[in-house]
Amino acid sequence: MNRVLITGGAGFLGSHLVDRLIDTHEVVVLDDLSTGSMDNLAVHVDNKRFTFIEGRISSETVVKAAIEGVHTVYHFAAQPDVRLSTELPYWDFEVNVVGTMKLLEVMRKSDVNRVVFASSGGTVYGETEVLPTPESTAFRPISNYGAAKGAIEMYLSSYSTLYDFTSISLRLANVIGSRLVHGVIYDFYRSLKRDSTILDVLGNGEQEKSYLYVTDAVEAAILLATNLQSGFNPVNVASGERLKVSRIAQIVIAELGLLDTQIEYAGGERGWPGDIACTDIDTSLLISLGWQPRVSISKAIGRCVQWLVKKFGPVE
Ligand SMILES: NC(=O)c1ccc[n+]([C@@H]2O[C@H](COP(=O)([O-])OP(=O)(O)OC[C@H]3O[C@@H](n4cnc5c(N)ncnc54)[C@H](O)[C@@H]3O)[C@@H](O)[C@H]2O)c1
Repeated sequence: MNRVLITGGAGFLGSHLVDRLIDTHEVVVLDDLSTGSMDNLAVHVDNKRFTFIEGRISSETVVKAAIEGVHTVYHFAAQPDVRLSTELPYWDFEVNVVGTMKLLEVMRKSDVNRVVFASSGGTVYGETEVLPTPESTAFRPISNYGAAKGAIEMYLSSYSTLYDFTSISLRLANVIGSRLVHGVIYDFYRSLKRDSTILDVLGNGEQEKSYLYVTDAVEAAILLATNLQSGFNPVNVASGERLKVSRIAQIVIAELGLLDTQIEYAGGERGWPGDIACTDIDTSLLISLGWQPRVSISKAIGRCVQWLVKKFGPVE
């Protein structure tokens, strides 16, 4: 049975990957629980095939222990917040870029040379005029978070050539689903829970992005890990559906059954510095490998909202 390491496995995406792999793999999770939670892994803690290690990707000792006997590393641990990367650029660099370099170095020295990395399809390309954006587009990040993802990809490329690594870089759209406690849907839910009569929306509501349901993202990761067996492979991962922030606000309000909510827009084409007004990534490569999204984005938002209600209570 293959043994895999999932860094960030207590987080939103990582824990869904654990759910999917645990029946067929030995799964080791390495997570410092900075944004993740053991609640996301509660159903697995007594499983003999599951091991949890609390610690950082930047700790050589911890990573060495976590990596023993591992075939593939799914590297999902990160500081995932674009806004924080603007406020604290060097800290973001240390967690995301330096942390990943330390992980890659332990991998190299331990002869573990397969990595699937959670990159970002919107933020590495920045505000390109090529829409939908193919993988060949030059990186022009407008956020430090995107710059960090791009820098890590450069190292995945060089490690593939120099040290025979197989690396898959999942250039993910905005992923949504249960256990998501950051991003636009969570922010809307929190705001409406405080006051359901007004929803303050950052920007003019015209920002339009690519989205993806979490289990579709996980299936893409596994398909690519199975099919791509050498070199550096960047692949866009998105549903092909693009949605405006104003539409997301309407869906969230409807899903919560609210009838008298006013939506108020702060104005401006970006929600915050580093926010990209329009993203749409070209998924031809992923589709050519046999992947199809199964869950529509409106259904995905609905499931995300219902999970939030169950976890944190109804909005009245
Ligand atoms: N959610 C999305 O829409 C999206 C889109 C594109 C890319 N990504 C990337 O996917 C990955 C997972 O994102 P997520 O949305 O699940 O976020 P998340 O915050 O839920 O998960 C990140 C996990 O990493 C852990 N972590 C953070 N720093 C760590 C460190 N130094 N050492 C060990 N563990 C650490 C956190 O505790 C958390 O469990 C991230 O790399 C993120 O940048 C996410």
